[in-house]
Amino acid sequence: MCGIVAAMAKREVADILLEGLRRLEYRGYDSAGIAMIDHDGGLQLHKYSGKVAILEQALALEPMQGGIGIAHTRWATHGQPNALNAHPHVAGNRLALVHNGIIENHQALRQQLEADDTAFLSETDTEVIVHLLAKAVNGGATLLAAVQQVIPQLNGAYALAVIDTENPEQVVVARQGSPLVLGVGIGETFAGSDTLALRSVTDTFVYLEEGDVAVLEVAGYQLFAANGEPVERPKTRLEAEHESQVLGDYDHYMLKEIHEQPARLADTLALDPLDCTVFGPRAAAIFGQVSAVQILACGTSYHAGLVARHWIEQYVGIPCQVEVASEYRYRQSVTLPGTLIVTISQSGETADTLAALKIADNDHIVGRLAICNVDHSAIVRASDLVFLTRAGAEIGVASTKAFTTQLVALQLLAANLGRNGALSTLNNERFCATLRGMPDAVAQVLALEPTIKAMAAHFTLKHHALFLGRGIYHPIAMEGALKLKEISYIHAEAYPAGELKHGPLALVDDDMPVVAVAPNDELLEKLRSNLEEVRARGGELFVFADEAAGFTAGEGVHVLPMPHCSDMAGPVIYTVALQLLSYYVALAKGTDVDKPRNLAKSVTVE
Ligand code: F6R
Repeated sequence: MCGIVAAMAKREVADILLEGLRRLEYRGYDSAGIAMIDHDGGLQLHKYSGKVAILEQALALEPMQGGIGIAHTRWATHGQPNALNAHPHVAGNRLALVHNGIIENHQALRQQLEADDTAFLSETDTEVIVHLLAKAVNGGATLLAAVQQVIPQLNGAYALAVIDTENPEQVVVARQGSPLVLGVGIGETFAGSDTLALRSVTDTFVYLEEGDVAVLEVAGYQLFAANGEPVERPKTRLEAEHESQVLGDYDHYMLKEIHEQPARLADTLALDPLDCTVFGPRAAAIFGQVSAVQILACGTSYHAGLVARHWIEQYVGIPCQVEVASEYRYRQSVTLPGTLIVTISQSGETADTLAALKIADNDHIVGRLAICNVDHSAIVRASDLVFLTRAGAEIGVASTKAFTTQLVALQLLAANLGRNGALSTLNNERFCATLRGMPDAVAQVLALEPTIKAMAAHFTLKHHALFLGRGIYHPIAMEGALKLKEISYIHAEAYPAGELKHGPLALVDDDMPVVAVAPNDELLEKLRSNLEEVRARGGELFVFADEAAGFTAGEGVHVLPMPHCSDMAGPVIYTVALQLLSYYVALAKGTDVDKPRNLAKSVTVE
C-alpha cells in the first residue's frame, strides 16, 4: 500500500528519499515519485508508473538536488496506476504533496474546486488536498496553518506530507487513520510510513497519534495535536536493524522468510510459555475474567484465528468466535459477557482490523489483545494487551513467518487462558515439549524442499486447484489456497473435505489438482474416504500426509510424507510445506513472488 518518505536536512536528500522508497517497496505499489525544492527554490518533480528502479534511472539522468523533499510509492485506489496519477501531486509550481489513505468526500471537494476554476491533472482523490492547501496559502496562510485548516474538511484516512517553495525550511506532515512516524536525526528530520523506511538514517522515532500535525525542520520538529495545541510524544529508540531486510543468498524474500521459520519460532518460543506477563502487565487480571474470545483479523491472520478457535474451544473450553474484520466492523454483532477481543495482524496497520477493534467497544468486553509483529503500530497502541511475535520484518507480500509465529502466540494464549481451570486437558509437560520441538519439526519439513519442488511442477499449467483439510487443518488448507492464488495467480479454493460432495465435487476432473492435508488424527479415515471420491472422478491427488497415515503414491496420487506431529505442532508444520509448494509453483510460472500483482503488504485503506 502507499508509502511516504519525507526529509528536511542540511545535506542532500535525494538518495535518502530513494532509499526510503526502496525500503517501502515491500508494501506493494505500482508507481513512484519524488518532489524536491532545489537550492534556488524551484520545485523539481519526477514521477513514473512502475518500479522505484525506473525513478532511480530517471534521477541518474537528471539528478535532483536540495535538502528538502517528499517521496511516494502509490498503490492505486482512485484512477489508473499511471504517471499522471502518481504522487507527488502539485499545485502550480508552489506546492507538492504525497498522501496515503482515501479521501471519501473527494468528489464533493473536487466539484467545489472545479467550480472555482481549479484545473485537475489526475483522477485521484488526493489531488483535492493539494488544491485546497493552495487556496489557503494563496490566501496568506502559512503552510502549517493551511494544513490545519484543510484537514478538518477531509473525510476518510490520510497520512500526508507537503512542501512549499515559498517556505523551503519546513515539511509539514499529518496523519489520521494511516500510519506515519517521524525520524529524528542530528541536523535533520524525516517522516515515513514506517520505521523501516528510515532505518538507514536514524534509530530514533516519534509515532504520531491520530490527528497529529508535525513540522519537520533541520533543527528538529514541532508537533501539534488534533486540537491545534502543541504536544509532546515519546521518542522511541529502536535497536540495531535486524538482518531481515538483507536477501543474502536467497532469490526471493519469501523463500528466505520460509527458511527463517525455525529461528523465528525459536525466538518467539524463547519466552516462558506459561508466564502470562508476556501478554502485558495486566494480562493476569484480564485473563482471569475471560469467558469468551472474539478474534478479528484479515487474510492470513484470519486463518491463524480460525486455527486458534480449535485450540481455545478444545483446551480452554470457552466459546471462541472468529470473523474477518471487514465484515465485523459493519455488522450488528452480539458480544458475549466476559469477551476478550483478540486482533491478529502482521503489520498492525490493517485498516479493517483497526476499525473492527475500535467498534468492538462495549460493556461486555474485558480487554483487547493484539497479536502483532510490529511494535508501536496502530493496532498495538489501541490495545490493552500485546503479544509481539518475533518474526522480524517480513518483506515478501505473502505472509509466511508472520503466520507461523502468530500460531505459536495463539498457542500461548490458549495455554494461559486455560490456566484458570481447563488447562488440565492441555497437559503442561506435553504442551511445553511440543513447543520446544517445533523449530526442529519445521526444519525437517524444510528438508523436504526438493520433493515439494518436484510436486510443484505439476501445477504450473493448471488454472484451478482445490485444497482439502478437516478440523483444525481446514484453515491450514485455506491458508495453502490463499498462498497459491496470491503468488501464482492460480485460482485455488479450500474446503473442509466433508463438504466436497455438497457441491465442489462437480469441479473435479483430471485437470483439477486436489491438495489434501492429511495428518494422522481422528479424522484421517473420514478424509481418506473423501479422497477416494476425488480419485474415483479422475482428480489428481497431492497428499501431504503423516508418514504413518498409510498413504501410498500411485497413478494420480502423489504423497509427501510429513513428520508425525500433534494438533499443536501440525498446523505450523503443514503450513510450511504448503508455503514451499506455492513458492515453487510461482517460481516455475515466473510471477513476481515477493510483490504479487495488485497486492499490498500493509493494507492501510479499507
Ligand atoms: C496474505 C497476507 C494477507 C494479510 C492481510 C492482513 O499472505 O499477507 O492476507 O494477512 O492483508 O494483514 P495483517 O496481518 O498485516 O493485518
